[in-house]
Amino acid sequence: MHSGLINIPRTAAELSQLREQVFDLKNKLNAIIVAHNYQVGEVQDVADFVGDSYELARLCGDAKAKTIVFCGVDFMAETAAILSPDAMVLLSAATACCPMANMITEKDLNEWKAKYPQAAVVSYVNTSAAIKAGSDICCTSANAVKVVESLPDNEILFVPDQNLGHFVSTQTKKRIILYPGFCATHAKLTADDVKLAKQNLPDAKVIVHPECRPEVIALADAALSTSQMIRYVQSSPADSFLIGTEEGLLHRLHKDNPEKKFFVIASSLICPNMKKTKLENVIETMQTKANRITVPEDIRIKAKRALDRMLAVK
Ligand code: 13P
Ligand code: SF4
Repeated sequence: MHSGLINIPRTAAELSQLREQVFDLKNKLNAIIVAHNYQVGEVQDVADFVGDSYELARLCGDAKAKTIVFCGVDFMAETAAILSPDAMVLLSAATACCPMANMITEKDLNEWKAKYPQAAVVSYVNTSAAIKAGSDICCTSANAVKVVESLPDNEILFVPDQNLGHFVSTQTKKRIILYPGFCATHAKLTADDVKLAKQNLPDAKVIVHPECRPEVIALADAALSTSQMIRYVQSSPADSFLIGTEEGLLHRLHKDNPEKKFFVIASSLICPNMKKTKLENVIETMQTKANRITVPEDIRIKAKRALDRMLAVK
């Protein structure tokens, strides 16, 4: 259990100079900067919008900006490019990927579809555009249960996150077929970590991400997407919280709730890919317009259909 956050060591003068460069370039390009809740604090602080995968997808779909500078991992920027084809979508850190998204290939998906032809395919947004294109509908951690419930089908092939899929199976009567993908960062959190943290802080609320193992979720007060965690904390009368997700979320939690206490349940909860973006990357990306994310049009249209179906679920 720890209360620290990864901070990049800089002097106040260095930080303000970098921020100025970011804002100058952003204005010149008429760009918006969007960041995921796991990004380092200095990146979240220059973003026009910070959110979870669902909010960022919605926002990019509605965005009128010519340029979207995405601070997160590749599938998120790809989702923005699918939903907002007229914008130039730039990923701030070229190699920032989601290893879970890479656990399913098109070949894997086709094999699983052939094995379960009667099942509707629900793909977590943590997937490539090609996997989205081969799915009936997408979901995020914020709406996975609602998405599954919105379908007429009683059998669901849920890819690629077995833990989110298992969580959904505990909230629905439908048969959920689980593909064996997982998030290596959330998988590090064990039930023993949670038990120990609860012993140390028995009055704290325990909130975890549904990418955590089932036995971890079973010990929590709630399993929520990252932005749902932010809202849970705001409306909770509790004053301390044990957080079972990537430590970047604590930046916002501390900022919005200075009177409350937050602890990451295990120090291993760091996603190396989410930590690849620094202010220097945001600046360089806007200067060079490198790392432009594009999706072949035939795949984009099919992937957009699965995303649009998700966005239509109320
Ligand atoms: P959220 O959509 O809940 O922010 O989660 C994204 C993610 O990658 C979790 O690891
Ligand atoms: Fe992917 Fe896990 Fe990192 Fe989220 S925390 S981006 S699921 S590796």
